[in-house]
Amino acid sequence: MSPEAASDARGLVAFARCFVLQVRHVNKSYGDKEVLRDLSFVVNAGERLALLGPNGAGKSTLVRILAGVEQPDGGRVAYSPPSLRVGYLPQGYADRPDLTVEEAVPELARRRALEQEMARLADQLAQEARPPSSLTEAYASAIDELAQAGEAVEGGIQPLLQEWGLGALDRGRQVASLSGGEQTRLGLARLLARRPDVLLLDEPTNHLDLEGIEELEAQLAGFRGALVLVTHDRALLARVPTSILELAPEGGRWRHFRGPYPAFLETKARELDEQRAAYGRQERQERRIREQIRRLKQWASQIEGETINFYYLKRAARIARQAKVVERRLERRLASEQRVERPKEESRLRPELTHAGRSGDDVLSVEGLSLQVGGRALLRDVSFALRYGERVALLGPNGSGKTSLLRAIVGQLPLAAGRVRLGASVRAALLEQGQEDLDPSLNAIETLRPLAAMDEGTLRRFLHHYLFVAADVR
Ligand SMILES: Nc1ncnc2c1ncn2[C@@H]1O[C@H](COP(=O)(O)OP(=O)(O)O)[C@@H](O)[C@H]1O
Ligand SMILES: [Mg+2]
Repeated sequence: MSPEAASDARGLVAFARCFVLQVRHVNKSYGDKEVLRDLSFVVNAGERLALLGPNGAGKSTLVRILAGVEQPDGGRVAYSPPSLRVGYLPQGYADRPDLTVEEAVPELARRRALEQEMARLADQLAQEARPPSSLTEAYASAIDELAQAGEAVEGGIQPLLQEWGLGALDRGRQVASLSGGEQTRLGLARLLARRPDVLLLDEPTNHLDLEGIEELEAQLAGFRGALVLVTHDRALLARVPTSILELAPEGGRWRHFRGPYPAFLETKARELDEQRAAYGRQERQERRIREQIRRLKQWASQIEGETINFYYLKRAARIARQAKVVERRLERRLASEQRVERPKEESRLRPELTHAGRSGDDVLSVEGLSLQVGGRALLRDVSFALRYGERVALLGPNGSGKTSLLRAIVGQLPLAAGRVRLGASVRAALLEQGQEDLDPSLNAIETLRPLAAMDEGTLRRFLHHYLFVAADVR
């Protein structure tokens, strides 16, 4: 082996050693919708990869494939070594809603199971005059395990819950009764308690309040493993990722950028500028060529109209032929692979919040409102008024009752005391945190049809404003 080849081979070995996750030629479609096309990238030890892309680009699909809960149509995903512990937080994570907080924390659940097992063994021991050694062995090893589980609880779980602002949570409460943010915090606490080597987090910040996001950022800063993170939180994006994988809105296109988010944004902005300039040059050139063609044709027909002289008619025919040649050249240009695409200005969500006309000045008044949820006092003696044109932000930590207050205002939640009054001709609309009120079996058009007096075309254009494309509403 030549020295160069040897050093190449060493380089390859070193390369093969440092990646913890390798994705090779992964394809995924749903029906005729291509979501991921020939996707290849690696994540190295300690790397923090952010997945970017608009809604529906395939971020969750990719994370599910990385977590192994969904199979790609082609290609493969490999962890190195394969025994790595992978922790996965799905999007819209509702921790096992059937469990209590206590049961949801695996180490606590383990402890409870061990205690039950020991009680059962102790029962058996009590019934045997001379217990067989298998029974005493089992009892002894259960004692050992419980001692270790106890350590895990004392050393790990309570401080962990506290770190996530869940220290005061009643451990007997059902997970389903926790707020979205509390559920996410519990999910993250659970996940990190297992000390994973690779963390896959799909939009963990969606339900978190500001403190929760800061806590998440601090935890991620202290996390030494590899991370794949989907988030739209700009502060988190600016500080956490070391590399970016961007999925395009359609057709499975993607791009992998080795560098942090601010550098990625700069590169994109520079490329967009360059593309705009090149596209402008191309437009000007094409306009000149079209003008040439028009002039040549005009000239040829002018000569034809003005003369019957054979010599000049032949010249007119040559000019007309030349116009054809230039026309074909233009067609080839237009069809060329090297043609610069029109720069896509990023589509933005442009909600048009139209309303049914002006209401009175008094829009909403809340007086002495109290709310109880699950026998617990959530809000006490809340009073405020909202006047026409006002916009109010509801702030408060997870679990403080923001969603419940909104539900009470629209009449979905009974009041324990006080009253809520909407002004004359005021219609209230509530967009829920998790869109719980959408029927998952309907497509976008079917969802809107009964609500809006619009024809199909208008509905489609309306949905387009909200970044849906044709394939989504079929
Ligand atoms: N189980 C499924 N069946 C059919 N289509 C799906 C399924 N899961 C996702 N899709 C579609 O695949 C595309 C990508 O979805 P998703 O991965 O959830 O995007 P993102 O997480 O980037 O918003 C979307 O058009 C979505 O509607
Ligand atoms: Mg998603």
